[in-house]
Amino acid sequence: MADGRGEGLYLLLISVHGLIRGHQLELGRDADTGGQIQYAVELTRALAAHPDVDRVDLLTRRIEDPSLSPDYAEPQEQLAPGAHIIRLPCGPRRYLRKELLWPHLDAFIDNALQQMRRIGRTPDVIHSHYADSGYVGTRLSQLLGIPLIHTGHSLGRVKLQRLLESGMAENIIESRYNISQRIEAEEITLGNASLVVASTNQEVEEQYSQYENYHPKRMVVIPPGVDLSRFHPPRRGEPLPAYAAELERFLRQPRRPMILALSRADRRKNIATLVRAYGENRELQERANLVVVAGNREDITTLESGAREVLTELLLAIDRYDLHGRIAYPKRHSSSDVPDLYRLAARTRGLFVNPALTEPFGLTLIEAAASGVPLVATEDGGPIDIIQHCRNGLLIDPLDADALGAALLDAVSDRQRWLQWSRNGLRGVRRHYSWSAHVKRYLRELQRVKRRYHKPFIRAHKSRLPAVDRILISDIDNTLIGDRAGLDLLLRELAGAEERIGFGIATGRHLNSALKVIREWGIPRPDLLITSVGSELHYGTGLVEDGGWQRHIDYLWKPEELRAALDPIPGLKLQAKINQRRFKISYNVDPDKAPDIQEIRRHLRRLDLHARVIYSHQAYLDILPVRASKGMAVRYLAMRWGVPPECLLVAGDSGNDEEMLSGNTLGVVVGNYSPELEHLRNRPRIYFASASYAHGILEGMQHYDFLGSVTAPDQGG
Ligand code: GLC
Ligand code: MG
Repeated sequence: MADGRGEGLYLLLISVHGLIRGHQLELGRDADTGGQIQYAVELTRALAAHPDVDRVDLLTRRIEDPSLSPDYAEPQEQLAPGAHIIRLPCGPRRYLRKELLWPHLDAFIDNALQQMRRIGRTPDVIHSHYADSGYVGTRLSQLLGIPLIHTGHSLGRVKLQRLLESGMAENIIESRYNISQRIEAEEITLGNASLVVASTNQEVEEQYSQYENYHPKRMVVIPPGVDLSRFHPPRRGEPLPAYAAELERFLRQPRRPMILALSRADRRKNIATLVRAYGENRELQERANLVVVAGNREDITTLESGAREVLTELLLAIDRYDLHGRIAYPKRHSSSDVPDLYRLAARTRGLFVNPALTEPFGLTLIEAAASGVPLVATEDGGPIDIIQHCRNGLLIDPLDADALGAALLDAVSDRQRWLQWSRNGLRGVRRHYSWSAHVKRYLRELQRVKRRYHKPFIRAHKSRLPAVDRILISDIDNTLIGDRAGLDLLLRELAGAEERIGFGIATGRHLNSALKVIREWGIPRPDLLITSVGSELHYGTGLVEDGGWQRHIDYLWKPEELRAALDPIPGLKLQAKINQRRFKISYNVDPDKAPDIQEIRRHLRRLDLHARVIYSHQAYLDILPVRASKGMAVRYLAMRWGVPPECLLVAGDSGNDEEMLSGNTLGVVVGNYSPELEHLRNRPRIYFASASYAHGILEGMQHYDFLGSVTAPDQGG
């Protein structure tokens, strides 16, 4: 358990978005502060408490925002012995909703690598949460050669389908939620993850199954635990919690059984049907009170439209059915009131009701059960599993108000059965939903994954001072070469600063072709050569091959199968034999005849083939191992040599340069770039030069003061 002993496991959890801290979680503050946040924090604590585990870090975004607690700006926070939250910069300092984080994730990846260098230890496994972290985790896992575990929490394809069904237009969904980027990240993640942890069977069978990269063999259902030190039944003789007074302001007979609903004010939580069910059932109103805790509010009229509609409808229904004195709908509560609310429901022999239209999991149900409160809940994924495990309540159809009212009445009416359900719930939760049970199972699965996984070839080294303190890495065609005068000027500048600046090239050409063109243009032999689009690496004048890189990228690489899958595609024509390399298959593309690139990726996924598909100049298609690209090679070198990405100036002009330009490196796009790079504009560390070819590189070097003191623009934007 002790920090840094170095023998036990080191686990790296990633949960990028939302607001994460160790105390007083601001759950339900917005759509990005739901159950995932709590899940990640509690899992971190629970894992660190296990004797086989040395250290657990939970990586999240660092947020400095005057409207938020300064807690979220702290670079590090200890959760428990061996458990820390590590907050890394990711784009602007202010709070951003998750849909806006995509362009900043590459920088987050580089910051994570730097963090590993700082502590000098590479994790045994990475566990990503949600699509954004999945993207980050996948890249890190590919780069470091360590396994990835993933938990989706909620899925883009499911959301897309739901929004389409609700009548929202596809282009609106796209602009509001960046949904295709999310789905693509999920596909990549599912293709790369060694293990996917789901919370229910339904999630696997009905949700993950919608993905091209659906691999049920790599999925396990391990429901999350509940914090049993917070959620427990009322203790004998315990005084009423303070929150009881809040409810008594609403209720004429506060001792009556309390039917508790607790959720965000979201239409899908279906509070309207619950109030109708209660409002139309006189007998139920005589027997029990209804308590609706639906988020926090100051003034309903200033809430966002969804919540405003739900709450307005609630108030109108209360008035319509004249429920005053029988229904409580408090304006605010804090996360520390939540356990008290359940205990109040238990004291009155009440119920917890969850009438949501769909309920993939339903952590609140488990918290209620842990507090001794029986359940009435929607017959769907989470509740089905929970009530099956705990035998502590009834399942209902959320669209049938009459039946819901009848079920609630039935459930509060039988005292003997209430006691039985309450006891069953307590027992069931301990057995199936405790974090210690979760962790035991989790670590068993993790050991299986580790055994199946190759030994990693790449290790993070503690930063040492390399001989050079900055490196220029340039693409060759249309970047370094193309303009004689510009190149001469650049070479003169480099020669003048030789002992401080390393020089590398990163090209789509194979080694001999690169060497030939370098000779022809009178370019001195680079210190490092990244060739064949990042699939081959050589060092120095001796051209020493990096064998570790070859072993590293030879992962899931099936060139024959890939060829068989791609050769028949119309519009793709295999390039000359010399361009086909051990780790690179290259086609010429006729864009009028070929399907779009996304379609080609999908095609490979359906065949369960893994590859990186890179499109350049609307003319070339390169197929590489998932771990190879110019960008991955550059990061590998940075790790190996201990050079931070801020000291790497990378220059390029086309699609195969994109990955090395993104992230924390100092990117330069030369003026004569091809259109597929246009979307990189406006990123602080991707400079679009107005000059072309080598003149553009020089302009970029000036922009970053690369020959002087090197200024890396703030990614905070
Ligand atoms: C170079 C390579 C070619 C590759 C292209 C794009 O032209 O020779 O094989 O497809 O770069 O990366
Ligand atoms: Mg080029």
